[in-house]
Amino acid sequence: MIDVKQIRQDFPIYENQPKLTYLDSAASSLKVKPVIDVLDHYYQSLGVNVHRGAYDLAYEATRLYEAARVNAAKFINANNDEIIFTRGTTSSLNMIAYAYREVLEENDEIITTELEHHSSILPWMATAKKTKANLVYIPLTDEGRITVDNFKKVLTKNTKVVAITYVSNVMGYLTPIEEIIELAHKNGAIVILDAAQAVPHMQVDVKKLDVDFLAFSGHKMFGPSGVGVLFGKSQLLNMLEPVEFGGEMADQVFKDHATYKEAPLKFEAGTPVISGALGLSAAIDYIKKIGYDNIHEHTMNLRKYTIEQLEKIEGITIYNKNADISTITFNIDDVHPHDIATMLDQYQVSVRAGHHCAQLVSRFLGVNSTLRVSFHIYNDIQDCDVLISSIKAAKDFFLSF
Ligand code: ALA
Repeated sequence: MIDVKQIRQDFPIYENQPKLTYLDSAASSLKVKPVIDVLDHYYQSLGVNVHRGAYDLAYEATRLYEAARVNAAKFINANNDEIIFTRGTTSSLNMIAYAYREVLEENDEIITTELEHHSSILPWMATAKKTKANLVYIPLTDEGRITVDNFKKVLTKNTKVVAITYVSNVMGYLTPIEEIIELAHKNGAIVILDAAQAVPHMQVDVKKLDVDFLAFSGHKMFGPSGVGVLFGKSQLLNMLEPVEFGGEMADQVFKDHATYKEAPLKFEAGTPVISGALGLSAAIDYIKKIGYDNIHEHTMNLRKYTIEQLEKIEGITIYNKNADISTITFNIDDVHPHDIATMLDQYQVSVRAGHHCAQLVSRFLGVNSTLRVSFHIYNDIQDCDVLISSIKAAKDFFLSF
C-alpha cells in the first residue's frame, strides 16, 4: 500500500515545486532523495576516476562503481559481467545494432514492430541499410498489440534478430515476450528487448526470459539521467567487436594491433558514467524498498480512476483502454494535443504531447500526435482531479471560439 504523503517526502521536488502535478513519468520520473544524496556524496567526497588510480579515493570510487554493477545485475538476475553501464537505453540499443553490422549479411531478417520507440527501431534501420538485411514488421492487432501468432507469421529461416519493445511507451502494452524469445531461439535468432518502460513498473528477470540483450535507463526509475544499462549474455558480448575504442577497454596495445578486455569493460571505453551508476544503484534499492506489487497496484488504480473521469468528457478518444501499465494515451476532438498540453501547464500540470518518439505508433493510430499521461508512486487522486478539471477548462477555452 502506497502512502503518497509519505512518498513525497522522499522527492525533494515537491518541497521546491509545491503546486506541481507531474504526470509525465514515462518520459522521466522525478528524482528520489537517496539518489540525489549518492550523487552529492560522489561529487563532494570522491569525484575521481575508477579502475585507474592507485590511491585510496580511486579504490573507493572503484569499489562503489563495481558494487553498483553487482546491484544492477542482481536486480535483473544477470551475472555481474553481463552488465554494461551506458548513457541510457538509446545508447545501449545503438551499441548492439552497431555491433551487429559485423554479424548480419544480405537478406538476413530483423524482426521489429510499429510499436517501437525510435531508439529501438532506427539503429536497426541503419544496420539493415548497411548490411542489406531486411527489416520485417510483426503485424499488430486492431488494438495495436503484438501477438505470438502474428510473430509466427513473420518468423522465417532468415530471421537473425528480433528487436522489440517489452512495454510500449505510447500504448503501455506488455509484449508476450517469453514465447517470442523461445520461438526466436528455436530458429537461431537473438532477441533484443527495449525494457525502458518495463523496468520502472515490473520485475524483469533476464534468466527467466532467456533474453539475449536488454536495455533500460536510470532516469525513468527515479535515478539520474545520462546512465543506463545494457545487459547482454556474456558469450554474445564477448563474440561482438567493441563499438567504442579508448581507455581501459584495451588489454594490449601495439603499433599495428590491439587486444581488448572481456565484457563488460570491453564496452565501457573512456571514463564511465560513475556518478550515474552509483545513482542508478540507489534508485534500484529504493524501488526494491517500495516493491513492484505496490507500484503496480497504486499506478493502475490511478489509471482506472482517471479513465473513468476522462470518459465523462465529451469528444475524448482513449487509444489504450486496456494497457498493462499506467500510461493513458488520448486525444480531444478538434483541439490539438500541444494546445491542451500548453494550457495544462498554466495549471502546473505536466503531460506529454506529440508522437512520443514513436512516429510509427501515431501512424498506426492514424493521428499526428496524442496526449499522454503517465503515473508513478508520487501521484495521487488529487493529481487526477486536477488533470481532469484542467482538461475541461482547456477544452472549453479552445472550443469557445
Ligand atoms: N522515451 C521517453 C518517452 O516515452 C522519452 O517519453
